[in-house]
Amino acid sequence: MIDVYGRTIEYLRISVTERCNLKCMYCDPDGENCIRQEERKLTPEQIEQITRSMARIGIKKVRVTGGEPLVRDDICDIVSRIAAIDGIQDVSMTTNGINLGKYAKDLKKAGLKRINISLDSLNEDRFKRITGGGVLQKTLNGIDKAIEAGLSPIKINTVLIKGVNDDEIDDFIELTKSKPLECRFIELMPIGDFGEKNSDKIVVNQDIISARPKLQYLEKTDKGAPAEYYKIPGYLGKVGFISPMSHKFCGDCNRIRLTSDGKIRPCLGNNGEIDIMDTLKNDPDSLDKLIEDIVYNKPGGHHFGEKYSSSRSMNRIGG
Ligand code: 5AD
Repeated sequence: MIDVYGRTIEYLRISVTERCNLKCMYCDPDGENCIRQEERKLTPEQIEQITRSMARIGIKKVRVTGGEPLVRDDICDIVSRIAAIDGIQDVSMTTNGINLGKYAKDLKKAGLKRINISLDSLNEDRFKRITGGGVLQKTLNGIDKAIEAGLSPIKINTVLIKGVNDDEIDDFIELTKSKPLECRFIELMPIGDFGEKNSDKIVVNQDIISARPKLQYLEKTDKGAPAEYYKIPGYLGKVGFISPMSHKFCGDCNRIRLTSDGKIRPCLGNNGEIDIMDTLKNDPDSLDKLIEDIVYNKPGGHHFGEKYSSSRSMNRIGG
């Protein structure tokens, strides 16, 4: 559907849990939300019901996120319910890859098309430090299993932080040489304590591009997608840049978010949220209308850079 600013909204991101099996330094270093018991977590049936409403108002693409979606043992059921809905043409997932080795094949069978994997270091010790104890080999194995299962495209998301992992930029780019991967660098956003206090550690994407003339610009094929893509001639994969801090792309935003506790958050960088659980449970016939109103009134743009403080850390929004 078209929102009040004339944007076509057709992409829904569903966070299926706040829990995560990592404790990343810029997301939830104390692991407070990562391990919290969730009082209200959408069931597969509720996720299906909400997504059906979403499809009726024009949502065509769904991404399953978290927290870490692969800590839910009913994740394949969730994916297959979403994939079976009329009007949903594309189901994808964002994961840290730790449990992906176990699930890649079954996810593909359930109807998952493609996958994004968060990976901030290719160095074992550093990976452990950034993620609060994660084992790099598990994520690397998850990537290989995703390739084997035929999930495509596979995108690697890396948040660069000055002095932490910005010496690995070329290592990530080299990953695209012989593997069919899209490696994407995401500018650190002021979501969570670390991001709010460390705006001086943002690595500006344009600086990476300017320093590497070998990168050749690729024309954008999907206007709603935030990444700008480049390629090194002869390499199998691509390199992407997502620059929410240096280049605001809100005017082309095509997405809304559903949190695992049943709230619609129409903008990542705006604390406005609407609880739809009461309507879902007590007045389901009004759900389409409620969702339509929320989506129509999606805010015009994020508030990063204006003393903005997020009401939720990324694992409670769905990155
Ligand atoms: N800034 C940028 N990206 C973030 N992510 C989590 N927190 C932030 C932040 N403050 C990323 C994760 C993952 C995706 C889900 O969101 O690294 O790639």
